[in-house]
Amino acid sequence: MIFVDACFGKETPHTPIWMMRQAGRYLSEYMAVREKAGNFLNLCHAPEMAAEVTLQPIDILGVDAAILFSDILVVPNEMGMELQFLKGEGPKFPKPLETVEDLENLDMEASKKLTYVYETIELVRKDLAPEKALIGFAGSPWTLATYMIEGGGTKTYSKVKKVIYSNPKYMETLLEKLTVVLIEYLEKQILAGVNAVQIFDSWAAALEKDAFFKFSWKYMVQIAETLKAKYPHIPVILFPKGVGAYLDGIYGNFDVFGVDWGTPIELAKEKLGDKYVLQGNLEPTRLYSKEAISEGVSHIMETMQGKRHIFNLGHGMLPDLDRNNAKFLVESVQNYK
Ligand code: CP3
Repeated sequence: MIFVDACFGKETPHTPIWMMRQAGRYLSEYMAVREKAGNFLNLCHAPEMAAEVTLQPIDILGVDAAILFSDILVVPNEMGMELQFLKGEGPKFPKPLETVEDLENLDMEASKKLTYVYETIELVRKDLAPEKALIGFAGSPWTLATYMIEGGGTKTYSKVKKVIYSNPKYMETLLEKLTVVLIEYLEKQILAGVNAVQIFDSWAAALEKDAFFKFSWKYMVQIAETLKAKYPHIPVILFPKGVGAYLDGIYGNFDVFGVDWGTPIELAKEKLGDKYVLQGNLEPTRLYSKEAISEGVSHIMETMQGKRHIFNLGHGMLPDLDRNNAKFLVESVQNYK
């Protein structure tokens, strides 16, 4: 698999490409399946339909890897937290974590309840061409903890930061619990058939440098190193979004570092390119224009020179973009000379 080879820094016939949020609302085929499922969470719970939307970008765009269709928030949901996806509002936990009792009540057996995810993986792997990789994923402990304490998206992170600075033990207990569950969850994804795993730390940039390493990175590395010790043939990709100023401190045994669009790719190459394969980092809104795509692709490809690089966006695709532009991006990268 060219994607897996590239994760290990091997030479490949072309730079592989996939896109974060490549399955989603910009595809009418996705909207049709979501309609049939009733809503987004039902779709995550229905292996046949989740497998179908996982495969859509492979057929439609020709990307080199599929990413499991699910969401990072199914984990806290199965740990016992009610979860809602309200139209136009994003995800919500109506009863966020507050008390020590809330923490004690979290179900540490959650990975055993996520059977619909493992079934989706088995179905996708059966239908996916052998040369295409399937990527499994999870949210980072910090990003999940933020949602669980804030109850949803936030601009200030005030609740979760109040916990960090006024009751760090509470936070550490929560992060440790999530780390245990996430290791089991990713391990079960590997056993079901994923060829690589990515950990999304979408809220990394909410933390100042020392706090990022203490409350987020440490746990991501713990997950990565536990998986690498047991499954050395499965690449581990870590994607902490928005930490371009902290690259000097990045450490640990994992394979691929995901570069967000706010971090210049040449800076990431200089700081981390010898230690890790880099994934990224086209600014997602460049997908609105073919010219902007070509310019962005040239810059990234010239910098990386087809070595130790996986092409991706620097964050997820947006719902209102034109699939023809996405296809143009995939072809531009795969045929780049
Ligand atoms: O194609 C893929 O990338 C695979 C599927 C995937 C989804 N969510 C599907 C989804 C993946 C990998 C995720 C990860 C995820 N989910 C993250 C980390 C990546 C990131 O974007 O930073 C986060 C923070 C979440 C939480 C989440 N889920 C949010 C904030 C939202 C709403 C935002 C929005 O775009 O509306 C979701 C919903 C969601 N997850 C959608 C999809 C396709 C849209 C749901 C819909 O169909 O309405």
